[in-house]
Amino acid sequence: MARQFFVGGNFKMNGTKESVKKIIGYLNDSDLPAQVEVVIAPPALYLGLAVEVNTQKTVAIAAQNVFDKDAGAFTGEICPAQVKDLGATWTLTGHSERRTIIKESDEFVANKTKFALEQGLSVILCIGETLEERKAGITLDVCARQLDAASKIISDWTNIVVAYEPVWAIGTGLAATPDDAQETHKAIRAHLATTIGEKQAAEVRILYGGSVNGKNAKEFKDKADVDGFLVGGASLKPEFVDIIKSRL
Ligand code: 13P
Repeated sequence: MARQFFVGGNFKMNGTKESVKKIIGYLNDSDLPAQVEVVIAPPALYLGLAVEVNTQKTVAIAAQNVFDKDAGAFTGEICPAQVKDLGATWTLTGHSERRTIIKESDEFVANKTKFALEQGLSVILCIGETLEERKAGITLDVCARQLDAASKIISDWTNIVVAYEPVWAIGTGLAATPDDAQETHKAIRAHLATTIGEKQAAEVRILYGGSVNGKNAKEFKDKADVDGFLVGGASLKPEFVDIIKSRL
């Protein structure tokens, strides 16, 4: 069963009106392959702008985070309905920068994921271990724990894409090797088969994230369980297009 290749671009807390327009311009001006699903996540302030500027049918717009409740007295938060109101259709949840810096718990991330899905957004659910956890040999336990919080309360994973992003590889220039990524992705899929069922586990896309660039993306080409990428720094540059085309 073929899973559609997926490339996400997480702009993180970067950009201005001008630079967001410029980055989306790289995509607009490119001949993007119709078979690749692309989702870009600019800062929330620029979601509306991104929706307006984007002219590519295969490119959708995502928030980087949402709250787990609907509109109300939650200063500074953003609800899925507002994301949708701007024309965005996806959100990230559980990015490691939110788990580690903002101290979001597995349960909170799971609740946000569930609520976003209920509100009609698709979700890129991010998981991954820190360097200490990797050194301690508990990579899979950490990923399983983060996934289990979600699978406990979410049974339909049709609109979830999982992004495996080892924290030690994010923004460091030290990507996981394609073999290491494949081994971990395979184990993540095997774990999901025990919690959400074999069929859903076989269908869910698992992205690799962490120092992916226009050059190394091609090296993951033949890795059966790497269904795409979630890209940080390189999504702000023209080479993002090379990553989108890396499976051609
Ligand atoms: P980099 O590609 O900059 O390492 O970031 C990866 C990431 O965190 C994407 O969400």
